[in-house]
Amino acid sequence: MEIVQMNAALTIVPTYNEVENIEGIVDRVLAVGVSDVLIVDDSSPDGTGDLADRLASRHASVHVLHRTAKDGLGRAYLAGFAWGRERGYDVLVEMDADGSHQPESLPVMLSELRSADIVLGSRWVPGGSVVNWPFHRKVLSIGGNVYARLALGIDIRDATGGYRAYRTEALGAIGLDSVESHGYCFQLDLLWRGLERGLHVVEVPITFIERERGESKMSGNIVRESLWKVSVWGIRRRVSALRELIIHHRRLPSVRANTRRLAPA
Ligand code: GDD
Ligand code: MN
Repeated sequence: MEIVQMNAALTIVPTYNEVENIEGIVDRVLAVGVSDVLIVDDSSPDGTGDLADRLASRHASVHVLHRTAKDGLGRAYLAGFAWGRERGYDVLVEMDADGSHQPESLPVMLSELRSADIVLGSRWVPGGSVVNWPFHRKVLSIGGNVYARLALGIDIRDATGGYRAYRTEALGAIGLDSVESHGYCFQLDLLWRGLERGLHVVEVPITFIERERGESKMSGNIVRESLWKVSVWGIRRRVSALRELIIHHRRLPSVRANTRRLAPA
């Protein structure tokens, strides 16, 4: 695929009760110096939004989007993407606020995006890792990814991660208005839509370090939503493939064709 020059990147950081983490992550992103920052805060009761405003008044490249209530990770990102698209950013990055995603990986991810539509920070490819996760979180993530791979027939090792870079154009092609998942399943949903549309996806190994401060918002409902939806998408895809074959004597394009992995450094 063609290599293009990309200019402005925006790192979107969704927050809900991250007052102890937000300043550290913003400072680290700014120190790397390759992107602006947009904090999307859902009226955190702990004062994250006020601190975010202070950071924005201190740094011209830091911005804040305030939302009125806790409304899920997916909707926070959709609002952030819309904000970035309106302002003409070429690249939109997703990053957690709690320090799990290392801003120092941004240059590699953005450089890989020159020859891809979506770059996934990947914990489960050679060279990737997870630090300080309890056993049950590892089992959940690995198990969820194995299931997604089998059910959807994709060749992606970490389809549920939350550290990613998208070409803004690619998000336009996905059609964000149609995205139906608003919890953490949003990540899988967006990726699956991209793969179905033939977008180029690269996995880049990352080190995910579990947060030291504050609490995870992951829940059993999130896991159930993902399991259920992945099953439905997988069945739907197979039905479409069968119909295409029987009615039109054609094969559906492969969802594995446009994916690759970056070798460990
Ligand atoms: N604005 C907003 N609204 N932010 C939210 C909400 C919400 O409803 N829910 C969570 N967040 C923010 C958190 O404040 C944090 O910055 C980020 O989303 C990730 O939340 P965590 O609760 O720390 O996620 P995790 O560490 O358990 O989950 C990680 O693994 C998941 C599964 O692989 C993350 O990397 C997820 O992105 C990933 O999907
Ligand atoms: Mn986290």
